[in-house]
Amino acid sequence: MIKKLTTSAILALALTTGGALASGDGGAIHDEAFSFEGPFGTYDQNQLQRGLKIYTEICSSCHGLKYVPLRTLSDDGGPNFSADQVRAYAAENFEVFDAELDDYRPSTPVDHFPVSNDPNAPDLSLMAKARAGFHGPAGTGINQLVRGIGGAEYIAAFLTGFTGEEKEVAGSVLYENTAFAGGWTAMPPQLWGEDVEFDDGHANDIHHEAVDMAAFLMWAAEPKMMERQHAGFVAVLLLTLLTALLYLTNKKLWAPHKGKKTDL
Ligand code: HEC
Repeated sequence: MIKKLTTSAILALALTTGGALASGDGGAIHDEAFSFEGPFGTYDQNQLQRGLKIYTEICSSCHGLKYVPLRTLSDDGGPNFSADQVRAYAAENFEVFDAELDDYRPSTPVDHFPVSNDPNAPDLSLMAKARAGFHGPAGTGINQLVRGIGGAEYIAAFLTGFTGEEKEVAGSVLYENTAFAGGWTAMPPQLWGEDVEFDDGHANDIHHEAVDMAAFLMWAAEPKMMERQHAGFVAVLLLTLLTALLYLTNKKLWAPHKGKKTDL
């Protein structure tokens, strides 16, 4: 009995202190209050625009976003630029190879964002869905039921997780990062704070920049998250209604037979 109690106490403790125990990939990953979280969350249009600016000015020199069509920048629920703004943005920032012209031409909204420039830099289109921020307790992933998978949190933690230490391994430099699996990444630190000036005058310290960037990558990976959540909510409502109707039908069908004495 005592043994059973102790085991359940330990289990309960592990569940409640999951955050502290969640060593995960080795880093301290903090839960962030993103606007898109929760069943009624939505993307913050201004935040996505700021994230896009960071991507364009800093990350795009190495990383591609090849699965994201440029035209989606004007979608509702996304950064919500006007069609003209997207046209200007595409032409100003990117070029694509046009087989017909046999030459490069400025991008248009029908093109996608470019592929990675640096062969070692992974494409970021689906990165926010490919990583998990929360793994605990003890690697069971139960925390994710409460806090979400934490892909965006992981990206924010990765961008701010550099300790400043570096070492050379087999001719390439690695940078210590508290969020990165293994602790050492080939990506040099990119954000220092005040790296970009935002048009809306929003705070541009390293933490705000990292969170805005993470939100943008979440949108890139899952632009239809709101539609999916709303469809799920309507489905649950309809199923609840159906359950109530079936319950009442069942009661009505059996009412004549309930409470009657049988001859058996
Ligand atoms: C100088 C080139 C370069 C720039 C600029 C750059 N990165 Fe990277 N990034 C890399 C490389 C190389 C890797 C692969 C690191 C590794 O696997 O060790 C990487 C990996 C990543 C990863 C994946 C980490 C993982 O868990 O595998 C993310 C996320 C990322 N970068 C985000 C960004 C963001 C956001 C920016 C802009 C703020 C950015 N990077 C700017 C080179 C770059």
